[in-house]
Amino acid sequence: MGYQKAMAILQWIALILSFLAAIQGVVDGYSVDIGVNYGLLGDDLPKPREVVNLFKAYGIGKVRLFNPDPDVLWALRGQDIDVMVGVPNENLNALAENQGAVNNWFDNNIEPYLNDVNIYFITVGNEVIPGPLGNSVWQVMQYLQNILDERSYRGIKISTVLPGTALKTSFPPSKGEFNGQSSGVMTSICGFLLFRGSPLLINVYPYFAYASNPTKTPLQYALFNSSTPVQDGNLSYYNLFDATVDAFISAMERVGGAGVEVAVTESGWPSAGNGIFTSPELAGTYNRNFMKHVTSLKGTPKRPGHYIEGFIFALFNENQKPAGVEQNFGLFYPTMKPVYTVF
Ligand SMILES: *[C@@H]1O[C@H](CO)[C@@H](O)[C@H](O)[C@H]1NC(C)=O
Ligand SMILES: *[C@@H]1O[C@H](CO)[C@@H](O)[C@H](O)[C@H]1NC(C)=O
Repeated sequence: MGYQKAMAILQWIALILSFLAAIQGVVDGYSVDIGVNYGLLGDDLPKPREVVNLFKAYGIGKVRLFNPDPDVLWALRGQDIDVMVGVPNENLNALAENQGAVNNWFDNNIEPYLNDVNIYFITVGNEVIPGPLGNSVWQVMQYLQNILDERSYRGIKISTVLPGTALKTSFPPSKGEFNGQSSGVMTSICGFLLFRGSPLLINVYPYFAYASNPTKTPLQYALFNSSTPVQDGNLSYYNLFDATVDAFISAMERVGGAGVEVAVTESGWPSAGNGIFTSPELAGTYNRNFMKHVTSLKGTPKRPGHYIEGFIFALFNENQKPAGVEQNFGLFYPTMKPVYTVF
């Protein structure tokens, strides 16, 4: 069988699998949830048990953890909350050594919780592509998948999280392309994602594009609040978020990933830390509009009607992050009082 023909068949299988997954999502009701990133870089954050109550009070049904933190996972036992867990970047090189290393990691960090925590996604590496850890990511993804296959954990997906800097070109969206450093490993990773029906995970921050160049990026376009589109061929873009997501989709098409879905693991807007570019009003507007966009199941101009899973960054203001905007992405203060209203 020729390579072209094999790829075509794989793309069909992936298409059918993602269609079935979408139907399953609607049946399960998870597909219209927005998720939240729960970071732990603060010395004044509430106890995980209290945080779980906060989730319940605001109806947050999905959380992303950067590490398999035992206290947090323990608190999530028996809760109706879907959990995405990260393999920490600092472990990637050691884990890529062999299958046994990954078996150990899984047995210590994931397996103990699978009975009563809804872990549905494991992310391998956060924003390490482009970079020297790219090949380790790809290797660890395969080792983890071997474990899931062997133990028949069919409900867990594997992928990796890319930053905007993985793209060499992001405008116009149709010209989206991975940069030279990431395109080799992204060919392998897109092949994996296609075969497994797993989405590529991307972090999308219109805030940074706006704040670094406010004359080029209109505020209303960054906030999902514009009524004048930016044209790309016959496609009309009303917000920078869609344009960025579609640039990633174009980049994937160039490396054989035309059948791969995307999910947005981080998006958000700081409420303070950078003068007129940041305020609770702007952050609230962005995050409410982001949530509306995700839960509307509208998709993007390139892929109308596709479900794009989304997570807001972040749950809390974290005082151990770098000073400035980085400490002010939270929906809540560490006291659990909202910074602005989203839910
Ligand atoms: C969003 O757009 C509306 C209508 O143009 C405007 O009244 C409102 O102030 C905008 N919101 C923000 C936060 O800029
Ligand atoms: C939009 O443009 C693309 C690429 O030029 C073309 O394949 C497609 O058919 C066009 N769609 C419509 C609705 O005109």
